[in-house]
Amino acid sequence: DAVFELHKTVVLVGMMGAGKTAVGRALAARLGVPFLDSDAEIESAANMTIPEIFERDGEPFFRAKESQVIGRLLDAEKGILSTGGGAFLSELNRQMITERGVSVWLRADLKVLWNRVKHKDTRPLLRTADPYATLRALYEARVPVYAQAGLTVESDGETSIENMVDRVVNA
Ligand code: S3P
Repeated sequence: DAVFELHKTVVLVGMMGAGKTAVGRALAARLGVPFLDSDAEIESAANMTIPEIFERDGEPFFRAKESQVIGRLLDAEKGILSTGGGAFLSELNRQMITERGVSVWLRADLKVLWNRVKHKDTRPLLRTADPYATLRALYEARVPVYAQAGLTVESDGETSIENMVDRVVNA
């Protein structure tokens, strides 16, 4: 097996449902490098789920934690870091990620994203009267920011996780 030494942490960014966690975990396994996940880290540090954190402490508190955790994970060890969908929207986070890592946008169409998130209740931002409209509004606002990532990898509805891993490795 090839031993892979990363010079920078590879940071996966993009919308909810893009596959950041699934692709990140598989990519880390493929390369034999650590898998880091900012949402999971926030949850275990707080001993609460993301919806609970949003409900009890509010989104600004979550965003502050998210920046702290991303900074810490970028310092800790080189690996694959999956971030929450809002992480790259913060200028501070973008700066940290760009300076200390390499960002990869997992780009997917709105329809693909919707099909992946519509059955789940784990995204507090989508707990609205019209979650599809909310997702669309977030999508439209965020795409220009994700487009600033160093690399873009397409995530369509049909591609398997392993094929996505191939695409990221090739990119
Ligand atoms: C968020 C996405 C979520 C999580 C939080 C906020 C967002 O992560 O960080 O609910 O702002 O898009 P995923 O992208 O893993 O769903």
